Amino acid sequence: MSKNVVITGASSGIGEALAEQFAAKGYSLGLAARSVDKLQALAQRLTQQYSIRVEVASLDVNDDASIPAVLNDLVARLGSMDILVANAGVAGSRRSGRDDLSVDKAIFQTNLIGAIATLDAATKIFLAQGFGHLVGMSSFSAFAPIPKNAAYSASKAALTNYMNAMRLELLTSHIDVTVIHPGFINTNLAPKMDKYPFVVTADVAAKQMVRAIESKQANVIVPALPWKIVKGLFQVMPDSLMSSLMKKFVK
Ligand SMILES: NC(=O)c1ccc[n+]([C@@H]2O[C@H](COP(=O)([O-])OP(=O)(O)OC[C@H]3O[C@@H](n4cnc5c(N)ncnc54)[C@H](OP(=O)(O)O)[C@@H]3O)[C@@H](O)[C@H]2O)c1
Repeated sequence: MSKNVVITGASSGIGEALAEQFAAKGYSLGLAARSVDKLQALAQRLTQQYSIRVEVASLDVNDDASIPAVLNDLVARLGSMDILVANAGVAGSRRSGRDDLSVDKAIFQTNLIGAIATLDAATKIFLAQGFGHLVGMSSFSAFAPIPKNAAYSASKAALTNYMNAMRLELLTSHIDVTVIHPGFINTNLAPKMDKYPFVVTADVAAKQMVRAIESKQANVIVPALPWKIVKGLFQVMPDSLMSSLMKKFVK
């Protein structure tokens, strides 16, 4: 029997590419986001191309009280849920002490509170059915914070930490927890993503992510190279060297 995966933020970028990769492997899909028209177009294409089942749902993760009902409805339509990917997220630039704090609040609401509420609702379903796999879309910035993106970087670091605590808490259950840390992926998350260093397409990234999810890895960096090496360098680099390197990027 085919497995069922529910993906939030499936209307574009990494979420859409994940939907395609899972579809190619015969999974049934539950796709959620605010842009239902985009989800419906994607569902129609994937259903025709891969002869799979696709259900779509309107979901705004900022309305965290609505999340359990949306997930329960998708599970009822699909029959069950094997994997939940909490992928919905936003980016946003803000200069500390200069710009409005509302920018940072909105980022934390979507990337952290929205993701936690999604994972929590899925955990409730998984505990009741006795199995499941939680996947969260963190970021490489959880390890290497990006200037003018303090809230984004911190929201992802918090999500990584939160999910790694969840894994420990769920050790005695049959619920797996995977945290994905993408490097730069060419999507519409931020302007000019195609100009970022070591950028890869969403399709390349999604292929690696699906492999990591299927092998139930705990913490994943995508693409692995060069980012695992960069992480190692950042861990041993003295703060003074990091500061002089970053100075030329921060005006
Ligand atoms: N691209 C990168 O380089 C990169 C690197 C590290 C991590 N990530 C993470 O990967 C995830 C996907 O981002 P992406 O790069 O694929 O960007 P994207 O193309 O902008 O996709 C973001 C997705 O999140 C959804 N979303 C945003 N706010 C939402 C809300 N309030 N409720 C429900 N859905 C919402 C959007 O759908 P609607 O607008 O239709 O709701 C869209 O489907 C994010 O969590 C991002 O932080 C990306």
